[in-house]
Amino acid sequence: MSVEAIERAKEHFGSILEEQLARIERIKKVPEPIDYTKVKPVVVGMLGGDGIGPSIAASAQKVLESLLADEIASGKVRFRVIEGLTIENRAAQMKAIPDDVLAEIKECHVTLKGPTTTPEKGGPWPNIESCNVAMRKELDLFANVRPVRIPKEGIDWMFYRENTEDLYALGSQGIDVTPDLAIDFRLITTPGSRRIIEAAFEYAKRNGKTSVTVVTKANVVKTTDGKFLEIAGEVAKRYPGISWEGWYIDIMTAKLLDPKRRRDFQVIVLPNLYGDILTDEAAEMQGGVGTAGSANLGIRYAMFEAIHGSAPRMVTEGRAKFADPSSMIRAGAMLLEHIGYAELGQKLTMSLDICGQYEKKLVMTGRDTGATGEVFGQYILDTLRDPKLESRWQEYVAA
Ligand code: IPM
Ligand code: MG
Repeated sequence: MSVEAIERAKEHFGSILEEQLARIERIKKVPEPIDYTKVKPVVVGMLGGDGIGPSIAASAQKVLESLLADEIASGKVRFRVIEGLTIENRAAQMKAIPDDVLAEIKECHVTLKGPTTTPEKGGPWPNIESCNVAMRKELDLFANVRPVRIPKEGIDWMFYRENTEDLYALGSQGIDVTPDLAIDFRLITTPGSRRIIEAAFEYAKRNGKTSVTVVTKANVVKTTDGKFLEIAGEVAKRYPGISWEGWYIDIMTAKLLDPKRRRDFQVIVLPNLYGDILTDEAAEMQGGVGTAGSANLGIRYAMFEAIHGSAPRMVTEGRAKFADPSSMIRAGAMLLEHIGYAELGQKLTMSLDICGQYEKKLVMTGRDTGATGEVFGQYILDTLRDPKLESRWQEYVAA
């Protein structure tokens, strides 16, 4: 029995190695980046997702369509709604992303995606792979870029979370060797680490940041985290104006809570799972995960989304329309910057800061004691259109 089990496991491991070595060769062939100034139309796919997804995605779409009204009218930007990325449809087809949905996504340049339910072992849905994880791998969206801002406290963090490797890459390909022995696989590659670390240093350089923090547990997880840290050291040599430091994930998690220390962190780069956890913690300080957006960037494709889940309970309790759309609208601001509307994206971000962190004329409580997502979206738009936006923002931050 155990000889057979070991043979079966070895075979499984062998096929994983073959797949991953082939993947490494694919990563090395870097495609040409898209120059959005030359593309017409830029096609923005809208994926509602499930749970509260369709509700907050609709609010975000309304905001973006209003801001891009001229570009839409001139044919420069086109929105395209893609149906079918729901847990019901994914479960019916037993696919992380149904084939027809994936084909449509690939016809867009960028997508804005609502949260999608992620099944787990023993849960109500078949235990198919997370569609987020599948999409990140399928479209090679290797950089999960997550800003967290608390301007009043001088906090302006930019997380570069690796998005295609680590425990996530083979998260649905672990093996029950025997009924008593379960093994998952963690992988870190040289080109996969190099490209995310370079992306973080490039961001720092473009934005006048002076330090990059590299987070691992390389003292214990010696081979994979050891590689990540070693590559960080090599990449850093090419950026003499930027200092860098390695931190371990445990103390990093603690220091993010230290009011005296935390504002010194600027750009933080880290493997996938550490990034998943640390960014939820960081977002909580900004006002909750419901306020945090993210960009999943590859070279050819990009997908923008909230950092949180689909909150199905809010739907069963009839509260979907009270879900906070700020996370999706922040993701929308990142989308605007990505396709060439940097100033508009920055203004939208400032409006979100003002409405959510300072002025709070309307608040989101997740229930009928607060505003609906639709009304809150309008509040953000009105704020953005105030000619005094910039001075209002300065005033609030200084107060
Ligand atoms: C996130 C989410 C996802 C992740 C889940 C939904 C698979 O938590 O985007 O951070 O773990 O990456
Ligand atoms: Mg997460």
